[in-house]
Amino acid sequence: MSRVYVFDHPLIQHKLTFIRDKHTGTKEFRELVDEVATLMAYEITRDIPLEETQIETPVSACSSKVISGKKVGLVPILRAGLGMVDGVLKLIPAAKVGHVGLYRDPETLKPIEYYVKLPTDIEERELIVIDPMLATGGSASAAITALKKRGAKNLKLMCLVAAPEGIKVMQDDHPDVDIYVAAVDECLNDHGYIVPGLGDAGDRLYGTK
Ligand code: PRP
Ligand code: URA
Repeated sequence: MSRVYVFDHPLIQHKLTFIRDKHTGTKEFRELVDEVATLMAYEITRDIPLEETQIETPVSACSSKVISGKKVGLVPILRAGLGMVDGVLKLIPAAKVGHVGLYRDPETLKPIEYYVKLPTDIEERELIVIDPMLATGGSASAAITALKKRGAKNLKLMCLVAAPEGIKVMQDDHPDVDIYVAAVDECLNDHGYIVPGLGDAGDRLYGTK
C-alpha cells in the first residue's frame, strides 16, 4: 500500500491557513500556493540519493556529495496544478515538465481528459504529479493511469489538501504511488468539495468562477 506523508512543517501549516481563508484574494492566494509548493518540494526531495564526487576547495582536495540517480519530471494536472509548478522548479530547476489536462464533470464528478503532453523519456524519470486538491481522487487516479499507459514507472503524487476518500481511491488504484500532502481534511461535501478545504483551487488561482 502506498504511504501518505503529511508535511506538518510550521511554515507550510502557517501559509496553508491563509490559502484556506476565503478572504485571501487571487494575488495573495497564488503567491502562497507558489511558496508552499517550494517548501513541499524541499520535503519531497529529502530521500533523493547522493553520490560522492571529488572536488578541490581553495584549501584542499576533498570528496563531497552531489545528487545522483534518476532525473525528475513534474506533471501538473491542468489547470490548478500549474499554480504549484514554478514553486517546485525553484528547487528542481532542471526538471522537465509534462502536462495532463483533466476537468471534473460537475454532474458526475468524473474526470474528463482533454490534453496530454509529456517529455519523451518519462519511463526513465521520477515523476511528481502535482495537483492542489485530492478530492474524490478521480482526477489524480486518471492522470496517473494516463502516465502509466505511456510508460511512467516511478511516480509520486503531491497535493496541498486531500480528502480521506481521495486517498483511499489512490491507494486502491495505485498502491505503488506515495502521496505527499500539506493536510488531510475531514471529508467531501455533496458537491465533491473538500471540507473544510480551500474552495475551488483553479478558480481561486485564476480569479474565475
Ligand atoms: C480540481 C482539482 C483537481 C480535481 C480534484 O480540478 O484541481 O484536479 O478538481 O477533484 P477530484 O479528486 O474529485 O477529481 P477541476 O476539475 O476543478 O479543474 P480545473 O483545475 O481546471 O479548475
Ligand atoms: N476541486 C477543488 O478545486 N476543490 C475541491 O474542494 C474539490 C475539487
